[in-house]
Amino acid sequence: MRCVRVVRLAALAAGLVLGCGGAFAASAEKGKTAFVQHGCWQCHGFRGQGGVAGLKLAPDPIAFETFSAFVRGTNRFMPPYQEAILSADDLADIYAYLQSIPKPADYKSIPLLNQ
Ligand code: HEC
Repeated sequence: MRCVRVVRLAALAAGLVLGCGGAFAASAEKGKTAFVQHGCWQCHGFRGQGGVAGLKLAPDPIAFETFSAFVRGTNRFMPPYQEAILSADDLADIYAYLQSIPKPADYKSIPLLNQ
């Protein structure tokens, strides 16, 4: 009985470690490539800044759960991207790329804009 519990705990711990591994493995560099390859830039701009067709995605992207649910299931103006087309890894990388985009400088720190 005790042994079963220990095994279950070990499996749970392994699952947690593996589960987190995926999130930590996300790469902003690969995400930048995936963002271009999958055409996200065409509507959202190369840096996710938004454009005529798509909303602003970065800096400060929405929570990953909301992001992922939208990309997988949207049925509005944006085409949905199922896992067969856009893998979970690519999606995590794209998110990492969007997270890596820095916020623009505060306009108050730009002399030309403060005359
Ligand atoms: C054909 C144009 C188009 C392409 C290509 C496109 N999007 Fe979009 N996206 C939109 C539009 C338009 C919206 C606004 C929501 C809607 O559909 O009404 C949107 C909304 C979103 C949102 C929700 C933003 C929010 O704040 O609610 C996310 C996240 C998103 N897109 C991510 C992506 C990603 C990632 C890709 C590439 C895999 C992508 N989009 C490709 C047009 C596009």
